[in-house]
Amino acid sequence: MKTAKCIIDKDYSIAEIDPKLYGSFIEHLGRAVYSGIYEPSHKTADEQGFRQDVMELVDDLAVPVVRYPGGNFVSGYNWTDGIGPVKDRPKRLDYAWLSIESNKIGIDEFVDWCKKVGTEPMAAVNLGTGAPQDAGYMMEYCNHPAGTYWSDLRIKNGHKEPHNIKVWCLGNEMDGPWQTCGLTAEDYGKKAREAAKIMKWIDPSIELVACGSASPWMPTYPEWDRIVLEHTYEQVDYISLHRYYENEGCIEDFLASFADMNDFIKTVAATADYVKAKVRSKKVMKLSFDEWNVWYIKRQTRFPWTEAPAILEDQYSLLDALVFGGMLCTLLNNCDRVRMACLAQLVNVIAPIFTEKDGRVLKQSIYYPFQQVSLYGRGTALKTLTQSEKFSTPLYGEVPTVQTAAIYHKEEGRITLFALNCDMQEDAQFFIDLRSFGSVKMTEHIIMDGPDLFAKNTFDKPDTVIPRSATIVTGNQSFTTILPKLSWNVFHFASIPEVVKTE
Ligand code: AHR
Repeated sequence: MKTAKCIIDKDYSIAEIDPKLYGSFIEHLGRAVYSGIYEPSHKTADEQGFRQDVMELVDDLAVPVVRYPGGNFVSGYNWTDGIGPVKDRPKRLDYAWLSIESNKIGIDEFVDWCKKVGTEPMAAVNLGTGAPQDAGYMMEYCNHPAGTYWSDLRIKNGHKEPHNIKVWCLGNEMDGPWQTCGLTAEDYGKKAREAAKIMKWIDPSIELVACGSASPWMPTYPEWDRIVLEHTYEQVDYISLHRYYENEGCIEDFLASFADMNDFIKTVAATADYVKAKVRSKKVMKLSFDEWNVWYIKRQTRFPWTEAPAILEDQYSLLDALVFGGMLCTLLNNCDRVRMACLAQLVNVIAPIFTEKDGRVLKQSIYYPFQQVSLYGRGTALKTLTQSEKFSTPLYGEVPTVQTAAIYHKEEGRITLFALNCDMQEDAQFFIDLRSFGSVKMTEHIIMDGPDLFAKNTFDKPDTVIPRSATIVTGNQSFTTILPKLSWNVFHFASIPEVVKTE
């Protein structure tokens, strides 16, 4: 049997994890909003029309922040279409997704929904068709207390207290040729800086995210990031990263997504650090990985303009959940720089939660690793020293078979270890060495694996791909356990308090 080893030392910390690492994303896209989070005719709808069956599942994910309203959608969106009496709101053509937007949900309703599910909104302003002043008006509407045109309009619309939205995105993927009114790096950098100035004049407590390149495969990457940051370095707090992976036929490449994601993060961090030196700044730029996931269905076929078409509704397999777990480890292992991330997206559109219109709600396979890492990945991220065999991938070269991430919950004396085993043939004997923690015991080992890599949860068989409990092994500071081939694993350990001997 193959072997792998993981050493964890409590003094080797990466950083305190910012809970915003477990953010997500709701865009006006497909059925994310309409018949996703909002469906007034649904049997579980609350007084505002929000589906409570969906709210429960969102709540169980403990998502701290949700990005809204896009995405590509935001670059052609007039946010004022979504405020005021619903009956007076215009229906518009949405250029991003070739759909009809009813505007029944807007920023006020979204903020209400966030409160109900215990999350914070992260708003995006339109820097495509929108001007910096529109961004300022939206800021004033949302965050200014009272006594001005826009803040008083919010009060008139039923929200006496300001929304106090703390994190704002300055547009979306502005180097993408698919973006409504995309820009060059120079033009975007200047526009974003001017919008940022207005927005921070209105509310200096906010944090701003500048658009990084839409993806590392863009020809503009990473020059885009450098130029944008040179224009905005002192005005913004984060640069964004977006990356989606899919199985393009080579499972090895797909499994190694975590390694590619790691390289991407290191490159953007290095680019930001270069600009830091160039502009003589003392500030370390944070990274916001505000779109990440597995995503297959991309191509847009032309369809008649309709409201909330069922598009981008990927169904996720066990294999997708494994790859997804590897990506979560990469985010954790870089949490000193990646201070915020958004799983794209949350409901129906490339999402862990899937609904039937007028019907049931389903947890997709990726729901489980996301929930585990969101719940247990709070505390201090520790560097893991992991030795395992490597596997060859055509795209990314030699990649370690076992990917890990560890968390120390100091106050409770608990340690959590996440481990992905990419070996396609054999289980591995796995040695876990917790040398610096004193006496500890393993309290839980949860596994996601199975005979069919392509198995998926369905409404009729919702428990096809779910975690299972494995046998706990005994040990004191070191443990020898098994990582099944192609498996995602969560280990919990607890300190054993020392018994003080008395005579
Ligand atoms: O998440 C789906 C889309 O992917 C977003 O609208 C866009 O930002 C990205 O290209």
